This record gives sequence, structure tokens and C-alpha cells, in this order.
Amino acid sequence: MRIGVIECGVCGTDHDIAAGKYGKPPAGSDFLILGHENLGTVREVGPGVDGFAPGDLVVATVRRGCGLCRFCAANRSDCCETGLYTERGIIGAHGYIAEEYVERPEYLLHVPPALRPIAVLMEPLSVVEKAIETGQKVLDRREPTPGFPPQRPPTALVTGTGAIGMLASLVLSVRGYEVTAIDRHGDATLAARVLRRIGATHVDSSSGIDAIGTAHYDLIVEASGAITLDFQLVSRLAPNGVLVLTGIPDASAPPISVAGGALLRGMVLANQAIVGSVNANRTHFELGLNDLLRFEERWPGVTAELISQRRPLNEAPQVLGEHVGGAVKIVLTVSTLTPFSDLSPRR
Ligand code: BGC
Repeated sequence: MRIGVIECGVCGTDHDIAAGKYGKPPAGSDFLILGHENLGTVREVGPGVDGFAPGDLVVATVRRGCGLCRFCAANRSDCCETGLYTERGIIGAHGYIAEEYVERPEYLLHVPPALRPIAVLMEPLSVVEKAIETGQKVLDRREPTPGFPPQRPPTALVTGTGAIGMLASLVLSVRGYEVTAIDRHGDATLAARVLRRIGATHVDSSSGIDAIGTAHYDLIVEASGAITLDFQLVSRLAPNGVLVLTGIPDASAPPISVAGGALLRGMVLANQAIVGSVNANRTHFELGLNDLLRFEERWPGVTAELISQRRPLNEAPQVLGEHVGGAVKIVLTVSTLTPFSDLSPRR
């Protein structure tokens, strides 16, 4: 299928690639076309493809399987066992910041027209869905004890209020968690405002993790990649709790010192777990699509607020080279044929 690109979101991974710290061009190419958070429209459907028509809105998944392992064979390349996968716009395959791209239908998801203004968030949301599903599966090993209904709602801590942290806060809230999100900013930011609107608690932890008081959490979703903080978070897990790591730390960061004995002892004695989560497969994009609809029902317009700026493609070098304080998600408008003003929600 041939897809015209409407817009692409920019994330920390894109910044790292632009800075030469991550990523790899396709074999035989000396450059990499960036862009993995995407929204496009079908331009042409090849013979033998059912279920898609020109004009349909679509989002493409990112990872392509190694062709060797059982997970990739089942279109679950997010769990690839060989590490020989590619990722469009990141590792070994060109991305979506292009006028158009060609893709197989199994890697494309239909987007309802009503979600046009926010569907570019589906890729980061898929990463969040996988992380929360993973954490929930670990928590579910506790199993409810018959005759003992829960006495309190489950609690979650989210670290970082970029797009991953904010989307995690939204997902956890619709799942019934009491959510606290921390960052290193005061209460005047867009993120803090959105957190208030969804009934979550925002804490400025620039003075350190003790800013959250003495609280412990069933689920901690880490979305900052801050290594020292990641270790400190273990002491904030409730008994049987789970810490899910999604931020990708810098492998060349200097070593840090950790009180390993106390940390591991505490984890064993309280049945706690740390688990990493990366990428997402098609089922997580589908979960994300459902959740975008739920967010709109529950907090109309809130998800769109997470898109802090839409910038024209010719500003890509500045966008990739700068850090806009207080921005949650910056989106590059790729197609001049489908300007955003034509993308108002059709309900
Ligand atoms: C992308 C994932 C990808 C990961 C590691 C993230 O920014 O959203 O799809 O697997 O980077 O490359």
C-alpha cells in the first residue's frame, strides 16, 4: 500500500538519533529517514489487499521482525529474541518523514476520522499500553483473595511528564488508578494543568524523590530514563509492587553507586519486581485506539492539549536540535496537501 504522510511526532529517540547517539541507517544507505510516530492517508491499495481504500486514515507500526524467531513470526516483533529486527525511522529502516511510504497492510491500522487531531499520538501510546499491560500482568500474580474485596483503589506513580508520562497518566486514570506524576517543574506547566484536569496529582520533585512524601505505589511507570532516580524508585514500591522502566538510559553514563544489598533484600522480602518494556505490537496500537476514544469521552479535548506545537517540515532541523521547555509533544506537519486545518474532527 502507498501512504501519504500527514504528520509525524518527534520524541527523545529522534533527538538522540539527530545527535548521533542512537539509530542506524538501512543496510547500504549512508543516511536514515527519521520519523516513527506517524499519521497518514492511503493513496493506493495494491491488488489482493482487502479492507483499505484510498483516503482512509492510517497509522503504521514501527518494528519489523527478524524473520527468524517465533515472536517475529507471530507479528510480535516487540519481543524479538534475536535482536535482528529493524525499526522504521530508528534502526535499519527508513521512517515516515517523507512525502509517502510503502507498507504491507499487516503493519497498518485504520484510524476513525474523529481521532484525526490526536491519532499521531498512537505510536507513543502503544508503547505506554505495552508497558502498563506488562506491569499489570506482574501485579496480577497476586490474584484476589476470595471474600476480601480491595479496600482502596490501586495507586500508580509516573515519573516524567513528557508524552509517555502524560499518556501513561491518562491510561492509568481510565483504568481506575489513583495517579501521581512527578517532574522537575512547578504547577504552571501544561502537563501540571492536564494532570489536574484528569484528577491526578502533580508533584515537583526537583528537590528529590522525598517531595512525594512517604507514599508507596502498586505500580510505578518510569518515563524519564534518569538512572539514579530509577534505583530510588524501588524504595517507593508497595509490597508486591512493580516498577516498569520505559525510559532508555544512556549506556555510556558514568557508573553510579547503589546500596545493592538493601535494595535487593527489600525486593525479595516484599515480592517486588522491576521489568523493562520497549516498543509495542499491533494489539497495543489497538488498545491505544480504544483508549483515545475513552479519553475523549471522559475528558473531551484533553488529549489534543498534549500536542504543544505543530511545526512545518522545513523547521525539522530546529525542532530536532532544540528542547522546548514545557512542551509535551511537538509534531512536524509533513503533507502540504493535507493541512491540519482540514483535519477537524468529523463526528
Ligand atoms: C519508539 C519505539 C522503539 C524504541 C527503541 C522509541 O522511541 O517509540 O517504537 O522500539 O524507541 O528504539
